[in-house]
Amino acid sequence: MLRSTLLYLSEKKGLQDFILRSKLARGMSRRFVAGETLDDAIEVTRDLNARGMDVTLDNLGEAVEREDQAAQATDDYIEILKRIDKEDGIEASISIKPTQLGLAIDPDLALANLRRLGDAALEYGNFVRIDMESTDYTQSTLDVFHALFKENKNLGTVIQSYLRRSEEDVRKLASVGAPVRLCKGAYKEPQDLAFQKKQEVDDSYVKLLEILMDSDSPLAIATHDHVMIDAGKRLIEKYPNRKAPVEFQMLYGIRRDLQARLVEQGHKMRVYVPYGSDWYPYFMRRMAERPANLFFVLRASVGK
Ligand code: FDA
Repeated sequence: MLRSTLLYLSEKKGLQDFILRSKLARGMSRRFVAGETLDDAIEVTRDLNARGMDVTLDNLGEAVEREDQAAQATDDYIEILKRIDKEDGIEASISIKPTQLGLAIDPDLALANLRRLGDAALEYGNFVRIDMESTDYTQSTLDVFHALFKENKNLGTVIQSYLRRSEEDVRKLASVGAPVRLCKGAYKEPQDLAFQKKQEVDDSYVKLLEILMDSDSPLAIATHDHVMIDAGKRLIEKYPNRKAPVEFQMLYGIRRDLQARLVEQGHKMRVYVPYGSDWYPYFMRRMAERPANLFFVLRASVGK
């Protein structure tokens, strides 16, 4: 119930404006968001790199409504790639929301912007992960991804195990060796499109994990769930001759203990580091995943 309410509120513009102006809320967001500037994100990246973790940077923002905004978001991401290239010893790739690059306006616009961004990733020897958003965009995201992956292998995408369609999508991605990040899914979706029970989502996750592990797709196991992580570790042992890389991924500020343990155990770990002024919807999705966070971050902020 609280989850649905928080997900509903994550889409409310009026509340967003109010919360973004609140000093207390900004303080709370720092638990999950690196800061508002690229300098903040680079500082957090250095710290994580020093602890043996790679990073993927997300310049927070959701659907844009105008072409110039999508072009600006693309330029901003190209600047991030340049900055990563320029900084000494920084290990970071980028994650983008396709609606930030114009997918909600016109898939061809998103495709053109992503092509430009992908070219920059090639130039700087970096990698672009195309995040997966709500089911309004699943098909168009995959269409754009498959079209571009034919010309540029420095791109990857995301599959959500809560979607009923995901097995088919995974098989298609695996058949071309496309890099896949597997996550459970963070949006509110109807029952005909998405599993609603945790057990069903988890069973689907393990099934998709095995399909991907038995393929040439570079794989990112994105979860904080120790049961999914254990399944991932078992499958890594089951496929010792797998050639494509496998890494674990977690979100900044969540289960830092598990992140450190995986590194200690010799696994590759990448932390998803969001930053930027447009942090409200991201922050609310993290609250919805674990409503106890609301009390946790509130207590931490008030106690400062
Ligand atoms: P689950 O929700 O079952 O949680 C398992 C345990 O993890 C909890 O018991 C708790 O201990 C801990 N935990 C989980 N969430 C927490 C939180 N917010 N705060 C504190 N503890 C928490 N989604 C999407 O739709 N599209 C995308 O592109 C991505 N990308 C992405 C990248 C990366 C690197 C990660 C880790 C996740 C995503 N996600 C995502 C989000 C994902 O779909 C999912 O909503 C969250 O990861 C929570 O699911 P878990 O797998 O962690 O399991």
